Parts: sequence; structure tokens; C-alpha cells
Amino acid sequence: MSDRVVLIGAGDVGVAYAYALVNQGLVHELSIIDINEQKVFGEVMDLNHGVVWAPTPTRVTVGEYADCADADVVVITAGAAQRPGETRLDLVGRNVEIFRSIVASVMETGFDGIFLIATNPVDVMTYATWKFSGLPSERVIGSGTALDTARLRFMLGELYDVAPTSVHAAIIGEHGDTEVPALSSANVAGAPLSRDLDAVPGRRDEIERIFDETRTAAYQIIDAKGSTSYGIGMALARITRALLRNEYAAIPISTYLQGPYGVTDLYLGVPAVLGRKGVRSVVELSLTDAEAAGLAHSAEVLGRIVDDANL
Ligand code: LAC
Repeated sequence: MSDRVVLIGAGDVGVAYAYALVNQGLVHELSIIDINEQKVFGEVMDLNHGVVWAPTPTRVTVGEYADCADADVVVITAGAAQRPGETRLDLVGRNVEIFRSIVASVMETGFDGIFLIATNPVDVMTYATWKFSGLPSERVIGSGTALDTARLRFMLGELYDVAPTSVHAAIIGEHGDTEVPALSSANVAGAPLSRDLDAVPGRRDEIERIFDETRTAAYQIIDAKGSTSYGIGMALARITRALLRNEYAAIPISTYLQGPYGVTDLYLGVPAVLGRKGVRSVVELSLTDAEAAGLAHSAEVLGRIVDDANL
């Protein structure tokens, strides 16, 4: 079976994702589409010159929409990106119209796989993709809070002097300013974080600082280098691996909620179990009243944006 991915968007996020896929040997075939055809030509040539060193060969090609017909996953990173000082939600108007065209072009090919969305505001753009495509919601997902969770796990790993892979914590809600750290269910190698919040002097302040750095990380990176790319690129690669290898891995992504967490008819970042057919199930974390209130606020903010966009 040949694992085929079509990437739509060869900007900083898209090419970081493409490089991660090739360097980790995650797919057999990768087609790249972008309105800047010269950029695509260069990125494809450059990536193919690294394939010989990759763990498994990937056939990277200049893509066209017809390639979506038998793709397993179509990943969309195309669209307007945040400029310094812009929030992710500021992008919704521009990107909804871009997506109306892109998703229609993909669906005209008879695509019947999984959409993975990264374009911001990703929760709203994933909802739009679901509406525009008509695919079942379990096969339309967004990167959501996977990246925010990776940022939190990295910084908690630094604090506890442990590998971030041994930190089990999730950021939930909007991939954006209203996101919520689900600290009450977090643990470091099995030791609950909540135990330290009061038992270790200063620990609560340290973790609140870490969450603030998590929530504002993208602004810092955009101010420093103009965009973010590697973190989101590798998060997208991790999600792609869970889908294609039917891993049943639980990853915080933007998934459609109709009931869990008291949320209805909305895409929001929560842990979801991922396999070859998309979302298999949603993990419902136990939340404190404060965490539940934060998630409800996040859902309310996103719900208003979705309503205003007439999706
Ligand atoms: C970030 C972008 C992907 O958080 O929203 O880096």
C-alpha cells in the first residue's frame, strides 16, 4: 500500500512539514501544490536531493489537484499568515475565501481521504474545511493544540530535568490566546503535577510562567524570525504518522465536538485517538472547574467567529 500525501502550501510551514515527512521517511509519495510554481519546483528538487539519506525513499513531486484523487491525506498550510502584532483570529476573513476555492478544487477530484489543516485560525479553518468538503467530521482534523502541547511539554521537561516525551500534559481549547492548560491531569513520568503546585515552594508561579510562555511563543518567534515553522511542521508530521500507521495514538488536535466537554458543533483542541480512518474517539479529560470554565470561554470565542464567518 502506498501512503500518499498531498501538501497544499509551500510556505515556511508547508516546507518544514515536507522536510519532516521526508527526513523521517513517513510517506511513499508527497505531491506539493502552491500558487508560486517556481517555489514548488525549487522545494521539490531540493527535497529530492536529500531522499538518498532518508530512512526510506519518498517520491516528491510537483503536485496538481488531480493528485488528490487517490491521496490518503491532504494537508493544507496555504493562506495568509500572522504578521507581527496580528492574532490568529485576525486571519479568518482572508483565509475562509481562500479555503472555499482550495477545498472545492480538492473535492472535484473525488478525494475521499483525510484533511489535515494547519492554516490559522486553525480551529475555524478546520470547521470551514469540514463544511466545504462535506466529508464526515472524523476525516477532517486540524493541528489544533498539538503544537501548544509540545511547547508546554518541552518547557515542563526543562523544569523537571526530564525528556519532554516523559511529560504527559495537554493544552486544550483554541490554538490561540484563549487556550487552556489541563494541568490537573498532567504528570511527569507518572508523578502528578498537581501534587507539586502547593507542595513545592514557587512551583505554581513557575508553571504559570511556563504556560504564559507557551501561549505567547508564536508571537515571540514571529517577532524574531518572521514566522514559525519547525514546531508546527513536526507536529503535522507526528499527526500524519498516527493517521497513516493506524497508531491509535492520542494527540491533542482540532477535532469536531458534538457533546464531549459540553461543546456542540465546533472544532476545538482536545486529545483525540487517531488512526487510518481519522478520529476514532475523543478523550474526555477530567477538568477542574477553572479549566472547564476556560475551555467554555475558548469555545464561546471560537463559536462567535464561526457564526460571524457564516460557515
Ligand atoms: C504557531 C502557529 C502555527 O503557533 O500558529 O506557531
